[in-house]
Amino acid sequence: MSETTAAEAKDVVGSEDPRAYLWEMLRAGWRFSALYAFVELDLAGWLRDGPLTVAELAERAGLDRSALARLLRTSAGSGLVRTLRDGDAPVRYVLTDVGHTLRGDVERSMRSVVIPQGAPDFLEAMGSLDEAVRNGKSPFAARFGSMYGYLASHPDARHHFDAHMATRSRTIAEATVAAYDFSGIGTIADIGGGVGTVLATVLEATPDARGLLFELEPVIAAAAGFLAPRGLTDRCELVVGDFFKAVPTADAYVLSNIVHNWNDEDALTVLHNVRAAMPDHGRVLLLDILLPEDDRPHLGKELDMRMLALYDGARERTESEYLGLLTQADLRPNRVIELPYALSLIEALPR
Ligand SMILES: C[S@@+](CC[C@H](N)C(=O)[O-])C[C@H]1O[C@@H](n2cnc3c(N)ncnc32)[C@H](O)[C@@H]1O
Repeated sequence: MSETTAAEAKDVVGSEDPRAYLWEMLRAGWRFSALYAFVELDLAGWLRDGPLTVAELAERAGLDRSALARLLRTSAGSGLVRTLRDGDAPVRYVLTDVGHTLRGDVERSMRSVVIPQGAPDFLEAMGSLDEAVRNGKSPFAARFGSMYGYLASHPDARHHFDAHMATRSRTIAEATVAAYDFSGIGTIADIGGGVGTVLATVLEATPDARGLLFELEPVIAAAAGFLAPRGLTDRCELVVGDFFKAVPTADAYVLSNIVHNWNDEDALTVLHNVRAAMPDHGRVLLLDILLPEDDRPHLGKELDMRMLALYDGARERTESEYLGLLTQADLRPNRVIELPYALSLIEALPR
């Protein structure tokens, strides 16, 4: 190891003892398993209305009292719950602010974010990452085919996927409207827009614009239910379609978390279809994580391991890789705006 690399590695490790760093990584896995059990058993839901003793919670949720006591003790160590002590009375557990985000009935719930990380089919694929590195193929895809095919035949997983994206995308959408001026754009199309979280936020911030949500069939049905209570039904057209075939005409195209799901060839097909449909004054707004070119630890690099295990061909990319794809699709990258949460917005215009 060169001197520079050793020094950088020490920065990353944050410890003089390299073994201690590896123990931290192992513990993160154990903590995650406890978090998954906490969420899968919906302990946050059971604790929603106030503190309970282990016996009360075990009785109500139908769980093993002794094992539950151990899980709660660990969850207190992770900050999901804390103990309330009152003399000799049995300890009661109460949700912390973090624990409350794991309830299924709160805005931006983290429940559906956690569940797909630990659900057996997904976890098995993550556990076979070595396989992916041996043969370059996603172990999940080898077993189930494409992720979106899997989701089409597993409605529960589709529900969690959509809710996960909605939680993540609300944050993305708010950062986007704070950083980008959508005023003056007639129709904004969200291609593969999920249930419409990003588009709804953009339309709410841009009262004169109209929206077009382009998605696969089952998602469009869920999108109708998402947009109606927000009073956006009249301002937003819902279009079922396949972005590998064609997309409708619009003045701006949002592609949020789309390109990273596909290999270069497929990503280029989508971008070419957008380019073919867009008018001369049109623009593409691509939202994705941009990987740093250096060795620093980065959310995108870790997420890329999930892409490798779960999707055939999906990958996180650097800025220059994204700019290269846009250029190949006959688009001219115009500016890159950094957003919070490691995300960026790339604006591209027709060449
Ligand atoms: C990672 S999600 C991103 C959702 C949304 N843009 C967001 O940022 O929250 C990718 C979306 O692409 C949609 N999708 C996948 N294949 C598609 C296709 N061939 N045509 C249209 N949409 C597709 C999926 O249903 C899914 O909602």
